[in-house]
Amino acid sequence: MLELSVCIGSSCHIKGAYNVIQTFQQLIEEGGFHDRINFKSGFCMKRCQHPGVAVLVDGEEHHVSPEAPGDFFNTRIMPKIL
Ligand code: FES
Repeated sequence: MLELSVCIGSSCHIKGAYNVIQTFQQLIEEGGFHDRINFKSGFCMKRCQHPGVAVLVDGEEHHVSPEAPGDFFNTRIMPKIL
């Protein structure tokens, strides 16, 4: 089970965390990946200074552009669950 967590702290919220969460939820739903991805949101991950929304994939830190969360999902998450 892949652990996927999106930061919903105030800085990431302003950067577009809501859009990232919505997109990830939609892609998980469409692909029927609930049994492969444990999707959560979490409070500030202390990475506010980085551009993009803080995301942890199995504990690995990433910073996702709110304009292209689908690209991130396809290139960084999909290969880990297929
Ligand atoms: S608010 Fe997201 S890392 Fe701080």
